[in-house]
Amino acid sequence: MAINPLLNPIRNVANKHDVREYVEKLDDAVPRTKGIIYIHVPFCPSICTYCSYDRVKYGKDDEEDYVHHLLEEMNLYSRKKLIQSAGFFAVHIGGGTPNMLSDGGIRTILNTLRNSFNIEKNAVINVEIGSKAYSREKLALLKDLGCNRLSFGVQSFDPGVRKRSALTTSNDGLKEMINDIKQFGFDINFDLMFGLPGQDEEIWESDLRKAVEFEPASLDVYCYYPINSKYYSLYKRKQAFRSGYRVEMPNEETILKMTEMTFTLLCANGYVQETAEDFAKPGKFSIIKAVGYTKNEISDNYIYLGMGPNSIGNINPYVYRNKFYNVPRTKSYLSDSSETGGFPIFLLRKNISPELKNLVLFPKVIKMKKARIGHRLLHEFSSRIEDLKARNLIMDDGDNFMLTDLGKLWIDNISYEFMNAEMKANFEDTIFSYSEA
Ligand SMILES: C[S@@+](CC[C@H](N)C(=O)[O-])C[C@H]1O[C@@H](n2cnc3c(N)ncnc32)[C@H](O)[C@@H]1O
Ligand code: SF4
Repeated sequence: MAINPLLNPIRNVANKHDVREYVEKLDDAVPRTKGIIYIHVPFCPSICTYCSYDRVKYGKDDEEDYVHHLLEEMNLYSRKKLIQSAGFFAVHIGGGTPNMLSDGGIRTILNTLRNSFNIEKNAVINVEIGSKAYSREKLALLKDLGCNRLSFGVQSFDPGVRKRSALTTSNDGLKEMINDIKQFGFDINFDLMFGLPGQDEEIWESDLRKAVEFEPASLDVYCYYPINSKYYSLYKRKQAFRSGYRVEMPNEETILKMTEMTFTLLCANGYVQETAEDFAKPGKFSIIKAVGYTKNEISDNYIYLGMGPNSIGNINPYVYRNKFYNVPRTKSYLSDSSETGGFPIFLLRKNISPELKNLVLFPKVIKMKKARIGHRLLHEFSSRIEDLKARNLIMDDGDNFMLTDLGKLWIDNISYEFMNAEMKANFEDTIFSYSEA
């Protein structure tokens, strides 16, 4: 999954002038640049009740249609000079559940990627895999195709939480899969979630302790975000009781305690908190996340080429989002794209300056060099910064701003303090627009 908190799908569909400029700029000849590729695979064996992403239940015909259009999109980009100039040092295949695709589908996508783009020799090739579509044969295939990092959706080990989430794999099954992944020699990342219905502090502590026993290279820890999910719809329609989902959501105080428990326990077990959600053993933090969240200087000038439905991309000066897979009337996300030069773009927006992006995302990445924010913004926001320091939410070591432990509980709120009016409106839309799955 690729996230850009500065861009959400609710407002601003692409306007014609921007689209024309975007397509023209793809033909610019530029000196060699660096890049990352993200590919979204929207299929899952079944839908988890908490999941808010662009995903649909798998169908063989749908896979064929999807792969066909994805190859067409790859072909469109691969003919552009700007893309040809980029050396891609990381590929992330996310979803959905990429391991749901057939062997042929996976092979075609990865081979076409290598044939169409300049993927560097030591590139990180990361694939998200879900337990419901797991097989050892698929691991062998991914290894054979050069994938070196797998992100595995564990979510919770608690049987009650798993049942309500429609996660069907037992703890023994998970253990077997994790051991396999390690034996194949992949770096393994776990996705974990807290704040799920019925998941109290005790369950969360046990989830964290069980997770660290497996010594994953890194963990993505998400607080449940109740939009677009089946569970939330049931809950809202008060069908919760009838459907056996009559379990309270943890309250805000519990969520704060769970957040604090997360960074305290993971850091005590040798993990470094790299962003609000990412914890990694030293040297094991995902380069894709690092660049995507502006963690380092590469972020200020790089190409983030997102392909597949609902992907986000960043090709300066634009940030774009592709159409969703389940668009009304047709599932072919590339259809009706003649007005956007054949590209399946749904939303296109000019990038904000790297300095403002760095300031807004600073809380998300925990620590930020002041030089990357620049004198002008430091001056403009000086009273807000002083106020946050006085409230013991952020610290300043001379060269960097850092979050305090108290600040780590209020990351989005601190970020909000630095947003301009448009970002604030978008952010509020995301937070307050709970919709049906
Ligand atoms: C889009 S999913 C793809 C992963 C893969 N399909 C799997 O199940 O393992 C990526 C991660 O997002 C997280 N996630 C999904 N829905 C969420 C929600 N509503 N709030 C917060 N995190 C969520 C889960 O941890 C999930 O593993
Ligand atoms: S969590 Fe993963 S497997 Fe479950 S519905 Fe979402 S994308 Fe699919």
